[in-house]
Amino acid sequence: VTTLHVRQQGEQYAVRVEPGLLAHFGTVLDGVCGARPRVVITDETVARLLPTWTGGAVPWMGLLTVPPGEAQKSREQWSRLTDGLLDLGLGRDGAVVAVGGGVIGDLAGFVAATYLRGIPFVQVPTTLLAMVDASVGGKTGVDTPHGKNLVGAFHPPAAVLADPITLTTLPARDYAAGLAETVKHGLIADADYFAWIESHAEALLAREPGTVAELVARSVAIKAAVVARDPLERGERAILNAGHTVGHAVEHVLGYRLLHGECVAIGLVAECALAEVLTGLPTEVRPRVAALLARLDLPTTIPVEAQDGRLLVAMRLDKKNRAGAVRCALPRALGAMAHSDGAFTIPVDDDLFRRTFARCR
Ligand SMILES: NC(=O)c1ccc[n+]([C@@H]2O[C@H](COP(=O)([O-])OP(=O)(O)OC[C@H]3O[C@@H](n4cnc5c(N)ncnc54)[C@H](O)[C@@H]3O)[C@@H](O)[C@H]2O)c1
Ligand SMILES: [Zn+2]
Repeated sequence: VTTLHVRQQGEQYAVRVEPGLLAHFGTVLDGVCGARPRVVITDETVARLLPTWTGGAVPWMGLLTVPPGEAQKSREQWSRLTDGLLDLGLGRDGAVVAVGGGVIGDLAGFVAATYLRGIPFVQVPTTLLAMVDASVGGKTGVDTPHGKNLVGAFHPPAAVLADPITLTTLPARDYAAGLAETVKHGLIADADYFAWIESHAEALLAREPGTVAELVARSVAIKAAVVARDPLERGERAILNAGHTVGHAVEHVLGYRLLHGECVAIGLVAECALAEVLTGLPTEVRPRVAALLARLDLPTTIPVEAQDGRLLVAMRLDKKNRAGAVRCALPRALGAMAHSDGAFTIPVDDDLFRRTFARCR
């Protein structure tokens, strides 16, 4: 059993990582919510799996579902779920329990953030990406036709309950996509952790629950430390965007054909190539990152359809840009990010992007 404590915005919440945790869901929720009435929000896929994890227990006053998929992370679903809570009569003494991947965590978290001006919510992540990334840090929100995550709020959870047993049913591509974010955590903050992932790649691919629990706990510890130092994303939190400037552009240009984590894998390798030029990243790091990602069944090269010109246009839309320049969070060594004068991102010009993309195809 691992329990980590995340400090954020003057509050603290526990992240419990434990194989079999959901087999005692009622007791665990009692411990977190006390006597608060709870409503579970989940997606239809997860709703079908939930009884197999909890043994059929129903420790909640209501359960609201949405169809699976990113398209549900919308203001329309926010509105529908909010009405659902009102119909159930959930009061200010209630709590929302988000059971599912990052889509459910972001959506249900935003419902909780705004419901009666904010009620507590518990994150029960059931994808690897949600366990190691989306459930920690307090960002909630929905998408709009103008882009992803454009409406939202910081609303840290009351607790995060992660049971690695739930990951056994996750599709292989979704599982690998979560692993990409863990490799990112090693690269940005902890060379020992990176080496641990290298030496446990087989057990991780086999989803061995004890090994996955250690992976989740170590990644959460890294993300939590960054979040504690920069809760509202004003500075250092940008390092969590390593691989994401190029990754998001690839994701967008390919019309979301690849998963987010797959694009992050591609972006990590490309941004290591940028770092060789801009931060003096030792040249042995990039092949090591690429080799590990490939072993974890992730892509590492930019697909030919993602042409340079379209990637450059997509990167101009990136949130991290300031004063017109595209900026990347870049490593200077395995386990350490470059920063200077309080800036955690570095401007990159189009010419260097083009030369780098040519090396990464
Ligand atoms: N808030 C944050 O800080 C943050 C960080 C990273 C990502 N995100 C968000 O997370 C979302 C992506 O999350 P995701 O990758 O978890 O996607 P997701 O929530 O869409 O889940 C992926 C798929 O897996 C299914 N699923 C979930 N758990 C399962 C299980 N145990 N077994 C079988 N199937 C299961 C879901 O039904 C879904 O079809 C994006 O919207 C992204 O913006 C948020
Ligand atoms: Zn990501």
